[in-house]
Amino acid sequence: MTVAFYSCHTYEQPFLDAANHSHNHQLTFFSQPLTPDTVALAAGQQAICVFVNDPLTRPILQALVGLRIRLIALRCAGYNQVDIPAAHELGIRILRVPAYSPHAVAEHAVALLLALNRKTYLAYQRTKENNFTLDGLMGFDLCGKRVGVVGTGKIGAAFARIMLGFGCHVLAYDNIHSAVLQEIGVTYLPLNEVLANADVLSLHCPLLPDTHHLINASALAAMKPGAYLINTSRGALLDTPAVLRALETGQLGALGVDVYEGEDDFFYADWSDKPLPDANLNALTHLPNVLVTAHQGFFTREAMEQIARVTINNLTCLEQHQIPINEATVVV
Ligand code: NAI
Repeated sequence: MTVAFYSCHTYEQPFLDAANHSHNHQLTFFSQPLTPDTVALAAGQQAICVFVNDPLTRPILQALVGLRIRLIALRCAGYNQVDIPAAHELGIRILRVPAYSPHAVAEHAVALLLALNRKTYLAYQRTKENNFTLDGLMGFDLCGKRVGVVGTGKIGAAFARIMLGFGCHVLAYDNIHSAVLQEIGVTYLPLNEVLANADVLSLHCPLLPDTHHLINASALAAMKPGAYLINTSRGALLDTPAVLRALETGQLGALGVDVYEGEDDFFYADWSDKPLPDANLNALTHLPNVLVTAHQGFFTREAMEQIARVTINNLTCLEQHQIPINEATVVV
């Protein structure tokens, strides 16, 4: 099958080519994101493959149908960027990669937390200039602290296990209580109790209508003063202006984010030579107690191999209707 890949960076292509070895699809890689202006690049292809920030809105889906393209593979797990009712109506089939190394994202959340707590990013800059002072670099022992985990699915569970290994008390909030996690020491509590008690709060739930701006002004006010907040899930879980205000007042001690509401306009592109036309993102990147990474939680060798393998297999399933599809991959 001929497939146009959008938002496809050079670091992804070797993984996709290797996974395609025994499938023989014809892959065309575009570095451009999928937009109303770039959708025409897919003319003549039988399918497209997109990434986390390529919006599959109704107008874009309609444009694809105009090009006779009704098969889409997502190279990611989340599908909040898909207009599912529109895809249904238009007879479009969409598959995703339901899981790829939850450890990659969980370990990145831990990396953000450790860097913020022990100020390794500040120390790195200082020692590069032969400044070997310690002023302002003091952190705290994670051992014995209470760590709140919102969403204990694959990634949240991996994060909770790491935190238990650090000697933390893990307080979790999820509608589904994992017996396995409870057995190893995780305590499930209502959200307000997790917020009130956690020294560190890490978000691992999906972006859904009921989790949009889950961490808003009132949630922040309910948190333990000075708590650290980590978000590797989706940007819109945070009400960013409210978070900025909480950072200003000290209600929030530090913030580590791998995701940002509105990241589609900026992440995966180089903005270093021009002003950033987003005051909130600009504020976040310049605060000393905030660490922003550009949606790289998934970015490990193991996860890239898994994403490529499942994506190419999904394309083969879409092409050959007789192959049974893993239900977990089906978006529409
Ligand atoms: P999962 O589906 O295994 O787990 C999600 C958990 O959240 C489930 O246990 C579910 O019951 C829970 N949940 C749903 N609504 C909730 C709510 N209102 N409050 C609390 N918990 C709720 O998903 P997985 O694989 O663990 O991924 C979690 C999220 O991580 C994804 O939705 C995605 O947004 C994000 N992600 C980020 C990546 C990155 O590179 N930074 C890469 C992959 C995923």
